Amino acid sequence: MGEIISGKKLSKEIREQVRLEVEALKVTYNAVPHLAVVLVGSDPASESYVKAKERACIKAGMKSTIILKDESLEEAELLSIIDKLNKDEGVHGVLVQLPLPKHIDENKVIDAIDFKKDVDGFHPLNIAYMHMGREAIYPATPSGIITMLKSTGIELKGKDAIIIGRSNIVGKPAAMLLMKEHCTVQIAHSRTLNLKEKCLQADIIVAAVGRANTVTEDMVKEGAVIIDVGVNRVDGKLVGDVDFDAIKEKASFITPVPGGVGPMTITSLLQNTVKTFKGLVE
Ligand code: GUN
Repeated sequence: MGEIISGKKLSKEIREQVRLEVEALKVTYNAVPHLAVVLVGSDPASESYVKAKERACIKAGMKSTIILKDESLEEAELLSIIDKLNKDEGVHGVLVQLPLPKHIDENKVIDAIDFKKDVDGFHPLNIAYMHMGREAIYPATPSGIITMLKSTGIELKGKDAIIIGRSNIVGKPAAMLLMKEHCTVQIAHSRTLNLKEKCLQADIIVAAVGRANTVTEDMVKEGAVIIDVGVNRVDGKLVGDVDFDAIKEKASFITPVPGGVGPMTITSLLQNTVKTFKGLVE
């Protein structure tokens, strides 16, 4: 039976480390990292994510500002809010919660955020730097995945990893970060043929397609490490993309849903906010 990698437990430990670092920064700089989050509209999932981000910031001793705007906000107004936050020396991290209403061009908004304050790591410059293996702000969910993998103590170098999912937020950056750790990486997706054969070769499987039961026990090599990024609601229950109960018998390590990758995303966001703060004051 595989060991469960608890994102909840790991997050608690790392968030305490972040809190201690923030305390030390306060002594040195007489200032704490300040994250500004812009939420346009009232999507219930977005509202709950934004609240969770604020709670985590405050608990870590950081400053949090949420800017709430009506669904009808014009694109130009949002760009002007971002411009003000970019110029505000008291704000170290800027995050615009996605998705945005249809009439706003998400790319334009992401491009407008100062890449040095881009705690999401979504700005084209941060993505380019990440691809080049240069220092950058890395997207939160893939960073959390790497932190979880490292927490197991397994050697990542030379391992075969397969990522199922090619999104800009998870799949693509996870591939880059795993390559940075010297894994051999394959990216599969919803149209991939022979997924089972490909998964059976893998030492590490990262499932990030958003479809329950995408990875079943017959697709997993004995002793593989399974990272489940999926969040799906099935019969009112929250489940990931992998068949957890069957696979946990075969895997060496597996992440649960909930309590796995989810909490790690906000933890990485806190780490990114500390990073942007240091970048601005040092
Ligand atoms: N919506 C869902 N996930 C994310 C995220 O990581 N960042 C932002 N800004 N919006 C999101």
